[in-house]
Amino acid sequence: MSIWMRFGGVIRVGVVALISLYFMALPELDVVMAQNTQLDVDELLHGEALAKTNCGRCHNIGLDGDSANKNAPPFRKLGERRAIETIAPMLVNKESPEHTDMPRFTITAIQAMDIAEWIYWVQPVAHGKRLVKEYCARCHAVELDDESKHSAAAPFRYLAKLYPVAFLEEAFAERIETGHPDMPVFEVRISQLRDMIAYIETIQKP
Ligand code: HEC
Ligand code: HEC
Repeated sequence: MSIWMRFGGVIRVGVVALISLYFMALPELDVVMAQNTQLDVDELLHGEALAKTNCGRCHNIGLDGDSANKNAPPFRKLGERRAIETIAPMLVNKESPEHTDMPRFTITAIQAMDIAEWIYWVQPVAHGKRLVKEYCARCHAVELDDESKHSAAAPFRYLAKLYPVAFLEEAFAERIETGHPDMPVFEVRISQLRDMIAYIETIQKP
């Protein structure tokens, strides 16, 4: 059965999707379209809309929070189970895990790639990299071979020389503050801090 929708709003698509899912007690689901000019041009928005509509009732698809279905891993943890590049082929080839309540979807390659793009976007390391680029890169070097813009700010790739990087989580649990007059105090959510640390750990140099 194919459901092709040309409604403008994601909300309406979502409502129709819920109603159609309700009537479709089939083991295999069609991925519900999220048709909208803006969504068509932006892979990430398209992927997010598809994920919300088709996957969100089981998986948590965002940067934090729990899944509605306890057995369905939150999307941000999928990278711990498999390489993200394998997810689009898994969906296209209908190889979703057996012996579970994960349905098989009929899905186009583009849809699968855009969903995978979204899944990549919420992975801790990718999120942490965006955060340190936005908040810390103005002073600290935040990649493997860049220079700190502020001469007193240590490049993040050498932080492990100063202390175990995971220690930052404890030190900065409330706020990121060093007492240095040049470094602003940052209020962060613990999930943001964890993701920054996850990224910083990937760039450590001995
Ligand atoms: C009806 C609930 C349900 C829906 C809807 C659902 N999933 Fe799942 N999914 C699960 C469950 C449960 C698991 C865990 C399977 C296991 O542990 O064997 C899972 C596992 C996965 C995995 C991990 C597979 C692996 O072996 O590492 C991926 C990737 C995944 N889902 C993607 C998606 C995507 C993308 C969508 C939307 C297009 C989706 N799921 C929709 C229930 C669901
Ligand atoms: C405006 C500039 C600036 C920004 C932005 C900034 N820092 Fe800093 N940071 C500094 C300076 C300068 C120091 C050196 C402090 C010292 O030596 O006492 C420092 C020190 C640190 C240290 C301690 C390293 C050491 O030498 O012990 C950590 C950890 C740190 N910053 C993390 C961060 C994080 C995480 C962010 C982004 C959320 C950030 N900083 C953003 C300027 C900055």
